[in-house]
Amino acid sequence: MVTEQSSRSIAPAEGTLGVLLVGLGAVATTFVAGVENVRRGRAKPVGSLSKMSTIRLGKRTEGRSPLIEDFVPLASLDDLVFAAWDPIPDDAYESCKVAGVLDSQHIEPIADFLRGIKPMPAVFDQNYVKRLTGTNVKSGRTKRELAEQLRDDIREFKQERGCARLVMIWCASTEVFISPGPAHESLAAFERAMEENDPAIPPSMLYAWAAIMEGVPFANGAPNLTVDVAALQELAEQKGVAVCGKDFKTGQTMVKTVISPMLKARMLGLSGWYSTNILGNRDGEVLDDPESFKTKEESKLGVLEHILQPSMYPDLYGQIYHKVRINYYPPRGDNKEGWDNIDIFGWLGYPMQIKVNFLCRDSILAAPIVLDLALFLDLAQRAEMVGIQEWLSFYFKSPMAAPQLVPEHDLFIQQTKLKNTLRWLMGEEQITHLGVEYYEYERV
Ligand SMILES: NC(=O)c1ccc[n+]([C@@H]2O[C@H](COP(=O)([O-])OP(=O)(O)OC[C@H]3O[C@@H](n4cnc5c(N)ncnc54)[C@H](O)[C@@H]3O)[C@@H](O)[C@H]2O)c1
Repeated sequence: MVTEQSSRSIAPAEGTLGVLLVGLGAVATTFVAGVENVRRGRAKPVGSLSKMSTIRLGKRTEGRSPLIEDFVPLASLDDLVFAAWDPIPDDAYESCKVAGVLDSQHIEPIADFLRGIKPMPAVFDQNYVKRLTGTNVKSGRTKRELAEQLRDDIREFKQERGCARLVMIWCASTEVFISPGPAHESLAAFERAMEENDPAIPPSMLYAWAAIMEGVPFANGAPNLTVDVAALQELAEQKGVAVCGKDFKTGQTMVKTVISPMLKARMLGLSGWYSTNILGNRDGEVLDDPESFKTKEESKLGVLEHILQPSMYPDLYGQIYHKVRINYYPPRGDNKEGWDNIDIFGWLGYPMQIKVNFLCRDSILAAPIVLDLALFLDLAQRAEMVGIQEWLSFYFKSPMAAPQLVPEHDLFIQQTKLKNTLRWLMGEEQITHLGVEYYEYERV
């Protein structure tokens, strides 16, 4: 039984933590270069909860608000080492320059460090990412054989770098849309499908399978199905491995999961939400392919439906017109621009509008999420938290949840869930925000 306060013991965060990155593109290089800059005292880890956020403990009057990193035993940044797979052979230095996210002041002083991260040959298949061609690619007779090669890579890296523990994070391109089917229903069916080169098994599932087989927790930063299938969850439970996903929640969707709960909290109606973006990086190019875009679109569209619950509030949310567009526009590079036009209505149905123009930097928003996921997933694994880590839904557009549950999308409920999980892990009281105890006066 799960109690309000956990008494579980957490293995210490001793030794080196190897972070295995699938994909060494804009997000992954912005993350590793960022960590190195922070380690050298050249920049601050802005955007990272694990590094910058405090957590309130006990009553408001107690004044106890330590930094999260001083409260829970997380791996130290100095203990992180990195490896990556990518079908493009550029090392992290070259890839960082191609991505065009960071200025030379954050690249050149750490050039040697970045050059040291050379991508291992990837399991890559153009059928799943149409707009890319890769040369740094593994070959094998079956998908199973390819996945076994990934397991060899994991073991070799672990041994070479003397890692005490590992985590794997999918920072690779968005694959084409795949619906869950018979090959994903059980582990036995999945493993058979790998042997038979079933098209229902894309490369991302092979990475996830290899990670779980090696006892390595896995996070999925893209909207691909990947680890969000019964077969791999069965494997995760069998092997005692933590998993989470899908699709980093960064720009427009982060804003959406803040504004829509506001509307619902005040019982304001919504008739339409039109979201459009221009984006010029490689991710934008991959998403220009309709099949990859469909995977992203599904992930972005689900959010409003889940938050607003139209079946419960048909008068307010029964007729929403929701549209999401991503337009590939090379001059902007990684500096995405998003526009949202939100048609709402209030008292007696009078219409109003909200406009949001977010000039964001995609990878700058995603990099701290990768860091937090690496550190928190490692914590979950050391605390023997197995299977789907719903408390990490804070970081995802399409959070994974147990089959009988609807996922939680509201950013601030997700944040409360995350912090309460940390309190629970450390045996601290849950914060309910009730607060009546401050106002219980004795009558005279
Ligand atoms: N940046 C954000 O705000 C954000 C938000 C949510 C999700 N994402 C997702 O994160 C992922 C990475 O984004 P990015 O901007 O770094 O893209 P990117 O194109 O710069 O990098 C992706 C890299 O993955 C590599 N890759 C493709 N297939 C691979 C495979 N099978 N194995 C190994 N590597 C493979 C590509 O060659 C490329 O180098 C994308 O799927 C994107 O949709 C990004």
